[in-house]
Amino acid sequence: MLDPGSVLPPPAGMLAELTHRCPLACPYCSNPLALDPKASELDTATWARVMQEAAALGVLHVHLSGGEPAARLDLPEITRAAHEAGLYTNLITSGIGVTSQKLDTLKDAGLDHIQISMQDVDEASADRIAGYQGAFKRKRALAEEVVKRGFPLTINAVIHRANIENIAGLVEMALAMHASRVEIAHAQYYGWALKNRAALMPSREQVDHAVAEVERLRATHRGQIVIDAIVPDYYARFPKPCMGGWGRRSLNVTPAGRVLPCHAAEVIPSLEFWSVRDHSLEDIWRNSPAFNAFRGEEWMQEPCRSCARRDQDFGGCRCQAFLLTGNARAADPVCHLSPDHGLLADFVEEREPEYAYRA
Ligand code: SF4
Ligand code: FES
Repeated sequence: MLDPGSVLPPPAGMLAELTHRCPLACPYCSNPLALDPKASELDTATWARVMQEAAALGVLHVHLSGGEPAARLDLPEITRAAHEAGLYTNLITSGIGVTSQKLDTLKDAGLDHIQISMQDVDEASADRIAGYQGAFKRKRALAEEVVKRGFPLTINAVIHRANIENIAGLVEMALAMHASRVEIAHAQYYGWALKNRAALMPSREQVDHAVAEVERLRATHRGQIVIDAIVPDYYARFPKPCMGGWGRRSLNVTPAGRVLPCHAAEVIPSLEFWSVRDHSLEDIWRNSPAFNAFRGEEWMQEPCRSCARRDQDFGGCRCQAFLLTGNARAADPVCHLSPDHGLLADFVEEREPEYAYRA
């Protein structure tokens, strides 16, 4: 629960996971290992209501995501509902399944922004990582159509052992695609990425070099492209303030309608999630047990409970704490003050040559 006297601000962003279906099979997919089946997905009218409730709650931007959101034929209707509710709409797409004609429909529906994932600079490597022959070419072609229609474009590149040496190339490629922003996002080890951790994890030397490379590229391309970096936290001394703090800034709606404080929250079995099928978004944001579980500081254990950084990183990531220690109230083991920090030294040494693709 929130600490007494504190006011609960509204969420700024909402991730709308429209479907878990996806033509790609990336080995670091953040979706859960058990995907919501098509038959359980929310219908168009319910998504439209959720968009209105989100705007009324104070949400400013919605990320239309998946899986591949274009796998839903009603994507334009859902986009229009979000737009008409007054939300800024960002489509997060693999690029597969979005045709030129669909782009026109989405433009007409009020879509504001498009983000395309790119797996690598080299076509063969990119297709191998995506688990989809021909994906690279189709993504490049779609990006051209996106820019031609005047959409702002962000390129997202998830970084891991197979592409970490190619960060400069990925930024050059994003520039050539006329993107205004590129996200260099080191894999975060939940979902499929945790399953494939030993095949994805880069070495410390590679990570140190990558971090310096991003700084160099930022200086070189200042004014041309914004480079966002999400750091690989297994090598950090302090954890990230995951989600900007649990239940503080954003919410996720799963394809079946459960509302989560973060995309991985369902890994914590003790949490009770409410659904938009039974509750309004405002009721869920304010009152659902899952959102209140780690708000404030009451839930914290030592060393977080008396740590001076507890209002900066909120004890790190609750999901990672649970996944690595079995205790969701523990300090994130990424923190060097955590009694479990030693676990990470073993994990980063694990090496597997091959990863399992998402089914
Ligand atoms: Fe953050 Fe807890 Fe580590 Fe302090 S002890 S830095 S609050 S994770
Ligand atoms: Fe769930 Fe970090 S991913 S709190």
